[in-house]
Amino acid sequence: MHTVYLDNAATSFPKPPAVGARMREYVDEVGAPVNRGSYQAAQQAELVTLRLRQRLCALFGFADPSHVILTPGNTWGLNMLLLGALRPGDHVMVSAMEHNAVMRPLTQLARRGVAFDRIPCDAEGRLQTGRIEPMLRPNTRLVLLAHASNVSGTVQDAAAVGEICAARGIPFALDAAQTAGHIPLDFTALQLSALSIPAHKGLMGPQGIGALLLRPDFAKTIEPLVSGGTGSVSDSEDIPRYLPDRFEPGTPNLPGIYGWEAALEYLEGVTVEAVAAHDRALSARLLGGLRDVPGVSLIGPDTTEGRVGVFSLDFPGKDNAEIAARLEEEFSILTRCGLHCAPNAHRTLGTFPRGTVRLSLGWFNTEADIDRALQAIKALSAG
Ligand SMILES: Cc1ncc(COP(=O)(O)O)c(C=O)c1O
Repeated sequence: MHTVYLDNAATSFPKPPAVGARMREYVDEVGAPVNRGSYQAAQQAELVTLRLRQRLCALFGFADPSHVILTPGNTWGLNMLLLGALRPGDHVMVSAMEHNAVMRPLTQLARRGVAFDRIPCDAEGRLQTGRIEPMLRPNTRLVLLAHASNVSGTVQDAAAVGEICAARGIPFALDAAQTAGHIPLDFTALQLSALSIPAHKGLMGPQGIGALLLRPDFAKTIEPLVSGGTGSVSDSEDIPRYLPDRFEPGTPNLPGIYGWEAALEYLEGVTVEAVAAHDRALSARLLGGLRDVPGVSLIGPDTTEGRVGVFSLDFPGKDNAEIAARLEEEFSILTRCGLHCAPNAHRTLGTFPRGTVRLSLGWFNTEADIDRALQAIKALSAG
């Protein structure tokens, strides 16, 4: 029985074959730094790095490759944004569905005098956008949302929030961990000031790399979280003022850059629209099948509208952790059980502290995978 991988919200698997091949090519055949040497291999590495920034610009409707900051991952990008932009006395608003990559730095900041509020969401995790305006304060410096929940797959109405923020001149940022590469996303159209993305989920790249896209005027308000050598303005002991160098100290993850660039080339060929259509078709199949299974509750939207392919299931009267373990042991189906680093999302959805069994889809999943999962869920919910 081949393994069915349904944990793509954690990290996508498998990767397009070119990803590993290009990473190996860098390690075995290139091996040069960027921004430091002028020899040919170093220039090649610089070109690939620039191509990565350009591909991200094209994918996310963003104008300036110099403001695509390569990060060690999405959690780092979100920390750079929150800890770098907010000062004591500031107020920030987030949704009630955030991941701990946002809530832990915010809790840290709260001890330093930064206040935060959670915008309420309904029982399916949908942001109540009408609640935003009355919650804004004169000192609100940022509105930040998980674009889609990593627990329920609920996608927020970012366009509506972008409108509200733009009208008030408040920077608006998205954590696109669960939407980047899964659904079309346009930085400019959504009136964003910042967008944080990981390489290793829907963008099909390797782990340990991500990007933070910053609108130039907003970037000026952010203090670098980490500083060090950049290979530029080396006569100065101060941090360069220009981007991306200002926010990219130290030698970057070059195997990751090569791998991610290859992943984006693949994704451009496939197109995000085709990925989204595939995701919707498999989601419809899963949702349709689940409706016929007694003894299992779907947490979150039960239609393909306003969601991505991340599904939380609860098996009332049973131990969800045991269900996830049996899915692997008896059916070779890999899922994830628990709170998924988002305790308040579970409070919102009514599944705290019990947690859920999460099934999350990716480009390489097939209809046969969904059918296998449905058969297994049917058997376990009955047994
Ligand atoms: C909504 C959301 N935000 C942030 C993160 C953190 O991303 P990473 O672990 O890639 O840094 C995740 C990861 O699952 C996520 O789902």
